[in-house]
Amino acid sequence: MGATISQAAGVLKLTAPGKINLALRVVGPRPDGYHELVSVVTAVTLVDELSVSARSAPGIELISDVPGFDVGEANLIVRAAGALARRATIEPRLTIRLEKRIPVGGGMGGGSTDAACILQALNRWWELGWSTEALASLAAELGSDVPMFLYGDAAVLRGRGERVEPIEWRWPGWFLLLAPDFGVSTARVYQAWSASPTRSERDPLAVIGASDAAAGVLRGLLFNDLQEPACRVESRLRALLGEIHRTAGVDALVSGSGSTCFALFDERDAAEHAAAELAKGGGLRSWVVRAVGAESQGRGVCYGNHRG
Ligand code: C5P
Repeated sequence: MGATISQAAGVLKLTAPGKINLALRVVGPRPDGYHELVSVVTAVTLVDELSVSARSAPGIELISDVPGFDVGEANLIVRAAGALARRATIEPRLTIRLEKRIPVGGGMGGGSTDAACILQALNRWWELGWSTEALASLAAELGSDVPMFLYGDAAVLRGRGERVEPIEWRWPGWFLLLAPDFGVSTARVYQAWSASPTRSERDPLAVIGASDAAAGVLRGLLFNDLQEPACRVESRLRALLGEIHRTAGVDALVSGSGSTCFALFDERDAAEHAAAELAKGGGLRSWVVRAVGAESQGRGVCYGNHRG
């Protein structure tokens, strides 16, 4: 999903974009413990930066710039690299560096985009020649949100999120992303949904045809069935949505299972003004970003056979 990969002096440099869910309908629980959903997502221009280089000792070494960040075997990047190496019967000797920008535990797919980006990068590094479909099947084993990042800049997701239908979505407006200093557990939010299901009657696909709409019109088409359960799991999230409404005068939406919230603006200046007002309250990180599809028009950013 808009990942970029470039190579210089034996180092692969990667950028991995986060996503926001524009519409998310939970259809219902599945026998395998997951939930069936239909969601429209777009990659946004808030990216993690990664690099891959060789090291002489065997193994996968992950170095991150986030204090306390788990860089061990449970990390999705390490698991992705390890799983691909095993399938390809390669002994990995890698150092992966991560500069984390996407909020951790924020509902923006930060861990998933890093993992997908590493799969694409190592497919090239080891000259495996795997198709996008083959990478996506491995990606789905790593997490429901990983496959979407192997495809285009926006997509309709189905199943537990692993069935990806790429779409074009080039809304030219601006998103204000707001990340509080707490995360929300995805598993707990889905549990809360099951305990008291919220189902929007709206069509999640309506947003696809509205990529040239004004922010106010587009906002009316967005919804997230996980927002209410996420607010029940974490009451500070409900308080944050109220604060955004009072301070910025807009109705923000939770991305995925939270805790990142986003609001829509037609003009960049208005988004930055709202960010500055909200920053006065403290405890929030914010970014003004766009849909990757709007930014990459005519730019040819995609590496590899993204559209399968
Ligand atoms: O697939 P992933 O490991 O990212 O999912 C984390 C947790 O979120 C799952 O263990 C499950 O409890 C919940 N989940 C779900 N339905 C989905 C995706 C995730 O119930 N479609």
